Parts: sequence; structure tokens; C-alpha cells
Amino acid sequence: MKPNEYVRDLVPYLPGKPVEELERELGITGAIKLASNENPLGASPKAIGALRDRLQEINWYPDGDSFYLKNELAAKLRLSSENLIVGNGSNDVIEIAARTFMKPGDEAIMGEFAFIVYPLVTKAIGAVAVLSPMPELVHDLEDMHSRISSKTKMIFIANPNNPTGTMVTKDEFEWFLEKVPEDIIILVDEAYFEYVESKQYPNSLDYHKTRASIITVRTFSKIYGLAGLRLGYGAASADIISYMNRVREPFNVNSLAQAAGISALSDTEHVINSREINKEGKHFLQSEFRKLGIKYFDSYTNFILIDLRADPTAIYNALLKEGVIVRPVGGYGLKTHLRISIGLMDENKRFIEALKKIVNK
Ligand SMILES: Cc1ncc(COP(=O)(O)O)c(C=O)c1O
Repeated sequence: MKPNEYVRDLVPYLPGKPVEELERELGITGAIKLASNENPLGASPKAIGALRDRLQEINWYPDGDSFYLKNELAAKLRLSSENLIVGNGSNDVIEIAARTFMKPGDEAIMGEFAFIVYPLVTKAIGAVAVLSPMPELVHDLEDMHSRISSKTKMIFIANPNNPTGTMVTKDEFEWFLEKVPEDIIILVDEAYFEYVESKQYPNSLDYHKTRASIITVRTFSKIYGLAGLRLGYGAASADIISYMNRVREPFNVNSLAQAAGISALSDTEHVINSREINKEGKHFLQSEFRKLGIKYFDSYTNFILIDLRADPTAIYNALLKEGVIVRPVGGYGLKTHLRISIGLMDENKRFIEALKKIVNK
């Protein structure tokens, strides 16, 4: 029994360690997880209410077209429903896009430290992941452009990027759009869109009118606090969406996720609170890193990447013993770094106290 050759060489995605697993392993309670860029505030109470209301109906298949959720999204984003596709997490949308637009032997360009799902979905279909160096841990769009070949079908840009937290600016993005041939799909992954406050940030939806081949991907897993339900969406031209719908599983989004998504969209207060808590936590953590002389990368997201300039395994393990889960990013080739998701202030303080105890030993 052999898998196909593309699958054989894949390295599985390594998720953040679940709290329950750590508590079970160490026989402790009260561990905290700052490892998967979730919303520490939880989901919107409105979304939780909608879930309760919908529970009685889970014997029925969900609406395979996510009709009402797409209507809400369309109104919010000033698009038409035919420009939207909903996924089982944005991960699903990214995978559908790759399967729709690439075949074995095609090429996709992506940053070397861009979100790890891009090379995974590319290689799984036998296409080639062309990596563009990121010396400053920022996407280098000039370099990405220079790697375009006759085989290039897609370009992935995470903006802002995970795990670096860095952002491509409006000027860079506009330059890039002018240069890249129209027949190449540019997938802009805006999983952290709602956290970005910079005026230099390009909202990729603003460019759909001038270029047909952009797919914008967003998620309910981050600021909307619905990571456990799995819900994300893609926005693109009606043609692109209709092709993607041919590959999409018929019932890829469950009914609870659809109901929670609709209510979450209406809870602007929860989004604003979440952004504020994140901003406060980010300032706190950055100032503590400065005091400790730890290098960190400016982040436009709900996490911070730090560089410990040495193998971080011992610190990671010591933090686990203190009941604090952060995220090693060696799988990205970032061998001396850790990624810390911004938590509630109590959690941020607990992480810093544990870190101080470890590094001052
Ligand atoms: C840049 C980026 N894109 C996509 C995802 C996938 O999110 P989900 O599938 O939960 O929507 C993540 C999750 O961490 C991410 O960081």
C-alpha cells in the first residue's frame, strides 16, 4: 500500500499543543495556551446564542450553499453572493483554490516563511512550491515577481503573514499587481485583516475591480473567535467562484458554523473589544520583551514572533512545565524563534513571569 508520490513526501502540519493534552501529560490544571492565535476573549455571546438555538436542528444537513451567511457577508463587504465561497475554515478555501487552479507540474510562488498550508496544498496536488526568500521575514514582492515562469499558476501572499506577523504595504502591493500577468491567480490571505490598523495596509478587496484574478481569503477563526467551528470565506470574481464551487464538498460548512457566523458578523462591539484587548496585550508584551532584551518582530496580528538567537526548545519545554503553551516555529525553518499568541492580560503576565523565571535562572 503506497500513497501517491506527492503525498509521500509531505510533512504533516503540526498544530499548537492543546491545553487538555498538556494538563494530562503533566498532571496539572490551569494551563494556558498562547499558541494558535485564537481569540482569548472567546466567541461573541450573540454567536453562542445562535448556536444554542440551532442545536435542535443538527439532524438536518446544512444548507450546502450557505445562502444566508453569504447574504450577510455580501452586504457587509458590498459584494454580491456570487462573489463568495464559504469554507470549513479558510484553510478549506485555500485548498479548494489550489485544487481548482493547479495540476501536477504547475508552480505556485510563496514566501519561504509564509503560512505553511500553502506549500502543503500545492505539493499535495503535485504542483511545485517555489519559495521566495524573506531575509527580513517580510514578503519580498520584487523577488516573488522575478520567480514567475510560464508554469506559474498561483501566487500566495499572507497579509499580514503568519508566523512572522509582518505586512505587505499598499505601495508594494500596487506595484506587484501592475507587474503580475492577469492569468496568474493572486491569493491574498487576510486571516488577520480585522486586527490591522495601519494606513499602509492594502485591503485586497479594493483591487478586485481592476484585476479579475485575485482571491481574497478571510476567516472567522481569529477575531471572531470561532476557530473550533471551522469557518472561513473567499471573495473573487463570479467566474473564479463558480470554478471553485465545482471542487468544493457539497456540505463543507456545518449548520452551527453558518448560524454562528451570521450572528458574529452582527456583533461589532465584540470585534472592537477584541481588537482593543489585543492592542493592549501587544504593547505590554513588546515592552516586556524590550526590557528582557529579546528581539521581536513588529506585528500587525494577534501574535508576536520572537527570536531567542539560540535553539528555543529548552525555553519552550520549561514554559510547558510552568503550564504555558507557546508555539515553536522550527517547521518553518525559523529555528531560533517562538511565536506567542496575545492572550488576556492575566495570561500575558503569567507568560512573562514564567519567561523571566526561566531566562533569569
Ligand atoms: C495566515 C493564515 N491563514 C489561514 C489560517 C487558517 O485558518 P482557519 O482555517 O482556521 O480559517 C491561519 C491560521 O492560523 C493563518 O494564520
